[in-house]
Amino acid sequence: MLFKKKKNVHKLDMQRIPQHIGIIMDGNGRWAKKHNLPRTMGHKKGAEVLEKIVEYCNDIGVKAITAYAFSTENWKRPKEEVDALMDLLYEYLLQAEEKFSGKNVVLKIIGDREPLRDDIKEAMLHAEEITKNNTGIILNMAVNYGGRREIEYAVKKVIEDVKNGKSDTDDINEEYLSDKMYTYGLPELDLIIRPSGELRLSNFMLWQAAYAEFWFSEINWPDFTPKHMEQAIIDFQSRNRRLGGV
Ligand code: FPP
Repeated sequence: MLFKKKKNVHKLDMQRIPQHIGIIMDGNGRWAKKHNLPRTMGHKKGAEVLEKIVEYCNDIGVKAITAYAFSTENWKRPKEEVDALMDLLYEYLLQAEEKFSGKNVVLKIIGDREPLRDDIKEAMLHAEEITKNNTGIILNMAVNYGGRREIEYAVKKVIEDVKNGKSDTDDINEEYLSDKMYTYGLPELDLIIRPSGELRLSNFMLWQAAYAEFWFSEINWPDFTPKHMEQAIIDFQSRNRRLGGV
């Protein structure tokens, strides 16, 4: 008699869904090259994929996603690519109402907005305003974001507080600094996902990554599907997170 070996198929444990997932959306350029398309098409496809992933994560109860859309170092790219990324971002923000309200997504943007175009800055404020009363997942978009820049920003805020007599040097601790980060109020970052085969943080969430789990994959971001996200979460759930304990 032939016995079929039962596969050890793991399922999502709905009681242990990560609260906050960071995504480095990498591999857009390589995806485009593979399909003989301009790099900007890779970014466009990447933006569409993000929407599907946010929807999936919202359905399973993830509280927040921080997506790395543009880093403080990305200005070094050719002007046409930077412009195309900014245009894509602008369009995305303009469509925020139709994209996110029906899906109950709260859009937040983190990063240094100062050098961005005025129309983008306005669209950011508007998109945040019209989605702020939604009650579902928070899509935290990192634009002109750098982990070091964020720490610099937080330190300056702390110094202001001390100068203004709001707090004393003795009050400054990890918790105090955490409250000055762009991610103030968001749950702890549990999981960081980086596709496309690169194994580094690239200045992403340096402070928040302290106890995050990492999930890397060879797949390029535009090919990333909810199935990959599910696998990343299943792997996350199999890890033994001791958070410094034994
Ligand atoms: C890295 O891939 C990706 C970026 C620098 C930009 C990510 C941006 C998006 C996915 C678009 C998001 C925008 C909105 C509006 C949601 P890469 O270009 O470095 O790829 P490569 O390493 O294959 O060249």
